[in-house]
Amino acid sequence: MGQIEGVFNGSFDLVENIKISPLSRAYTFSDSIYEVVPFYNSKAIAFDMHIERLLRSSNELSIALDIEQASNQITQLISNCPSENGYVYYQVTRGQDIVRSHMYKPLMDIETFGYVLPFSFETKTLKVMICEDIRWGRCDIKSTSLLGNVMQMNSAQKHDCDEVIMHKENILTEAGASNVFFVKNGTVCTPALSNNILPGITRALLINEIKKINIPFIEGIFDLKDLSNASSAWLSSSTKGLAPISEIINLDNSLNTQDPVYLKCKEAFDYKFFS
Ligand code: PDD
Repeated sequence: MGQIEGVFNGSFDLVENIKISPLSRAYTFSDSIYEVVPFYNSKAIAFDMHIERLLRSSNELSIALDIEQASNQITQLISNCPSENGYVYYQVTRGQDIVRSHMYKPLMDIETFGYVLPFSFETKTLKVMICEDIRWGRCDIKSTSLLGNVMQMNSAQKHDCDEVIMHKENILTEAGASNVFFVKNGTVCTPALSNNILPGITRALLINEIKKINIPFIEGIFDLKDLSNASSAWLSSSTKGLAPISEIINLDNSLNTQDPVYLKCKEAFDYKFFS
């Protein structure tokens, strides 16, 4: 596994030395939430927004996280990392049950676990598959319960695809591990936030840049037909950045990865966060 540094319940150690109980509700119920905090040139990107979302996810599940401790640990993992570029994964779990019960006890001893990985933020062009959004009804919470995403992403992999774009009854939601943007008649479009979409930090940062450079932009309800009329499309996430889509294998359209509207968005975003 190499010398990957982690932190479990506040103690820093190599990840290979960290031991976690099988009675953890992370293991039995996926009763956990998480964050992925990217850093570039040893500086976290949108640190406060990631911390705020971590707090919101834990509040939504009534997990009593000490957010100051969590943010100090994330900061320390970043500053200890020998690589200047990478990301921290940080997970908060409700705690351990001796008797497995769906109904948790109040005030359980939560478990926190984080680790840091070097990562190079290279733009990769993606081949994508459309699939049904089979996930639960609170995808706005960054929970580790990701089986819907895992099933659909692995079905995409069998078709030699890198990602999926999901829809619920024809209405676009998001991708398997990213948010979706497309350009239709020169306007950048993205599905409006709802319980079916994770409020991506990259999504929010990009929207801010798009507004600054005055490119027409709409957040709304879009369907597969809107996507099939798109001239370009891309996915956004903390680890992918803005990744252009070259092909959607099961949708009739043709996408241009060199579309000037996409390139302008990408240039503005990369200039702000990766220069
Ligand atoms: N995934 N939607 C889903 C379902 C995601 O899993 C992610 C991120 C995003 C984009 O969010 P952000 O821009 O804040 O990274 C949208 C992370 C990177 C992961 O699970 O590894």
